[in-house]
Amino acid sequence: MNFINQMEPLIGEEEKKAVVDYMNSGAWLTEFEKTKEFAAMIANYTGAKYAYILANGTVTLTTALWACGLKVGDEVLVPDYTMVATANAAALIGCEVKFVDINRQNLCMDFVKMQEAISSKTKAVMLVTINGRYPDNIEEFASYCRERGIWLIEDAAQSLGSMCDGKHLGTFGDIGSFSFSMPKIITTGQGGALITNNPELAEKIAKLRDFGREKPGADHYLTQGWNFKFTDLQAVIGIEQMKKLPDRVKRKKLIGKLYLELLKDIPQIELVPTNLQNTAPWFYDIFVEDRDKLNGYLKEHNIGSREFYPPLHSEPVYARNTLSYPVATEISQKGLWLPSSVQLSDEQVNYICNTIKSYFLITGSKI
Ligand SMILES: Cc1ncc(COP(=O)(O)O)c(C=O)c1O
Repeated sequence: MNFINQMEPLIGEEEKKAVVDYMNSGAWLTEFEKTKEFAAMIANYTGAKYAYILANGTVTLTTALWACGLKVGDEVLVPDYTMVATANAAALIGCEVKFVDINRQNLCMDFVKMQEAISSKTKAVMLVTINGRYPDNIEEFASYCRERGIWLIEDAAQSLGSMCDGKHLGTFGDIGSFSFSMPKIITTGQGGALITNNPELAEKIAKLRDFGREKPGADHYLTQGWNFKFTDLQAVIGIEQMKKLPDRVKRKKLIGKLYLELLKDIPQIELVPTNLQNTAPWFYDIFVEDRDKLNGYLKEHNIGSREFYPPLHSEPVYARNTLSYPVATEISQKGLWLPSSVQLSDEQVNYICNTIKSYFLITGSKI
């Protein structure tokens, strides 16, 4: 068995042809009609009224907060367990990041702990629908924040293709954010998108990402803005990837079911509850006590796996312990991501699960 990467992108002949065709068409490379087409596909797929493509899924989050009027010193609630970009995006504005523990059932920010963490300084909550999972009461999250004048930004970087109650994740809060970095279900190398149904926020996003221009190409500046734009060279890849998204969502769910079937009887492994009707898992995750040893064993057997993110409150860059974080701390030590590419074959998933079983046999634990 060749080495199975924990994650790798899937780029087909269609993307290669699209790039060549675009280059032959007198390409100007920078963003124009192809980026608009890609944005329209994202709006259409997610059911949002407005979609904008930006340089990556970090500046999308900063732009979302700016669009909501966040400024230096405003408090932003961020889950303790997330990719560091969620917190960094708020820190870039000079906001005070307050970490909130997560719910063990879905690994998203805990609703009760969020309520306890809110202070008079809280201006925004960043709800990360991590790994395509979501709090069952996501609507309540949204209404709770709305009623208190707190902006709800959904960091749905890992959730393209995942739904709740027939609505795409990213459409419950004021603004939803996606990433198209390499490990995502569709990728343009780098890239991100913002979606919203709010016309005022949409207009602000459009200006913030384009130097504050009144309209693209017009050098009249209504507001301060930056250059967080995209390129049509990437957009032509994104368009082809979007055409493949529905099939990828199906395959991601099938791989999830297969992992579940093959791993569910291993007592040393805890599986995170996942509603595979709604969630297209970004990564396939397990909890295991001796995580680092299993991680090493899998690598020896040509299987790439990756440890969960650390709890951010304990990282040197954020080192702060304002609240308590038992769940994020526990699952960060136990969590392991198994190979998760959409092109994984059933045979590879079987091999991975058999290797995990053999690990527990060798280490003397009964299965
Ligand atoms: C939850 C989350 N937020 C934000 C980001 C940042 O996205 P990007 O890498 O496109 O900047 C990522 C990237 O993996 C992510 O997983």
